[in-house]
Amino acid sequence: MSGFLGSTVGKKYLMGITGLIWAGFVLAHMAGNMLIFVSADAYNSYGHALTSGNIIYVAETVLVLALIVHVYTAVSLTINNRAAKDQRYAVAASGKKRSTLASRTMAVQGSIILVFIILHLITFKYGVHYETNVKGVPMRDLARLMEEVFQQPGYVIWYLVALILLGFHLSHGVGSTFQSLGLMEGTYRNTWKKLSYGYAVIVALGFIAQPVYLFLFH
Ligand code: HEM
Repeated sequence: MSGFLGSTVGKKYLMGITGLIWAGFVLAHMAGNMLIFVSADAYNSYGHALTSGNIIYVAETVLVLALIVHVYTAVSLTINNRAAKDQRYAVAASGKKRSTLASRTMAVQGSIILVFIILHLITFKYGVHYETNVKGVPMRDLARLMEEVFQQPGYVIWYLVALILLGFHLSHGVGSTFQSLGLMEGTYRNTWKKLSYGYAVIVALGFIAQPVYLFLFH
């Protein structure tokens, strides 16, 4: 990449915007999944409606491209940052200058989340294809697959760990993007900060409720 998009600031923008695309997706995904609390039929009909049209292919292409750009810019910025830090400081910053644990471990969180996404797609999207019938319409029984997967404590624990990391990643990532976009200055600084934090908590807790509910009550 060359020009503005290849510069550090350009990469930060690209990383932030592609991150926001995924942030929008996970919020919608979490909210849609809540139908599992209503009934298996409601959940399956929703999944069927989403995957029946062509819009799914557009959404999938945008998500894959956004993920590639997000990972590429993140790796590139991390490498540049490390090289710059090695040259500049002999002693690590401490006290107020020291960044939070969540911000210092963004790369580690991101790597684990990437592994999570790949395994998640293998488990669900490309997992066992049960069939069901809702009001005469044949469709995939994803609710049954979800119930089976989350009967297994190992899966539940792995999802809890990954979703807590996702919460930290979202909170710091969305906050930093607002900062890059210049929203963290002036009167509304605290509002944007609270918004990114509240959003991350809602997404993480909303997702966590699903495997926990299926494990305990199915
Ligand atoms: C409790 C947490 C979660 C549950 C129960 C869940 C459930 C599911 C299910 C059942 C599918 C299959 C949908 C289909 O093929 O029609 C799916 C797809 C997917 N999930 Fe999740 N999900 C969870 C969390 C996440 C998280 C945290 C991410 C991302 C960080 C994510 C990313 C995706 C993606 C990218 C797809 C594929 C969408 C597509 O291309 O059709 N999921 N999820």
